[in-house]
Amino acid sequence: MNIILLGPPGAGKGTQAKLISEKYSIPHISTGDIFRKNISEKTPLGVKAKEYMDKGQLVPDELTIDLVKDRLQSDDCKKGFLLDGFPRTVKQAEALDEFLKSNNSQIDFALLIEVPNEFILDRMTGRRVCQSCGGSYHIKFNPPKEESKCDICGGILIQRKDDKEETVKERLNVYEKQTQPLVDYYNEKNALCKVNGTETIDNVFKDICNILGSDK
Ligand code: AP5
Ligand code: MG
Ligand code: ZN
Repeated sequence: MNIILLGPPGAGKGTQAKLISEKYSIPHISTGDIFRKNISEKTPLGVKAKEYMDKGQLVPDELTIDLVKDRLQSDDCKKGFLLDGFPRTVKQAEALDEFLKSNNSQIDFALLIEVPNEFILDRMTGRRVCQSCGGSYHIKFNPPKEESKCDICGGILIQRKDDKEETVKERLNVYEKQTQPLVDYYNEKNALCKVNGTETIDNVFKDICNILGSDK
């Protein structure tokens, strides 16, 4: 099963991705997490990506597309994958389709998690992420069992640099201009499924499971 997650910053893509990946045993591939790992390791890719991410802008397609194609060729993607935060531009979506087609494959579900802008700021400012595994928490809506410590791996929870109010606003602009067109793109391919992301985390997950069904 090949799935992509669409939705504005703070929609809950990372939160749901963790749950889906566990239930359906498919790898969770988050381009944002991959870039953040490269930034923390100060790799050449990380240095370049940081310039854009800190401003809330997209990392150029040239740096992003090959990275994902490489990742999708790993053995663990043979029985399916879950992409979180990719594709984000029509060019990325076309490159992904072309790649999958050449492997006799396709996107089965493009899950759009819909959340109006007025919810987003609250979610972003309260978000804490695990420095080690990328796990996402919220001080009010999804607190860790122990303060500032990841439930899954025990890593330290920090605030993301791009979760400042001005940067969040820029990310929302960028989403509207560059990523929103993908909603029509996947709708035309009959892969789009909409989920109400303003529900609780558990209820959003239930809706997603109803869409995906019980097959693995
Ligand atoms: P990325 O890391 O993908 O960030 P994003 O799309 O902006 O989304 P977020 O991770 O902020 O939100 P989310 O939807 O995952 O929400 P979460 O589950 O954490 O990208 C970051 C940057 O990397 C981009 O700006 C860009 O520069 C670059 N980049 C990445 N991919 C790229 C690409 N393909 N091309 C070019 N550049 C790229 O939830 C948010 C908060 O809300 C959490 O605190 C959570 O606990 C809480 N929450 C979740 N669900 C609920 C709920 N149902 N009710 C209440 N609270 C909830
Ligand atoms: Mg995320
Ligand atoms: Zn962790």
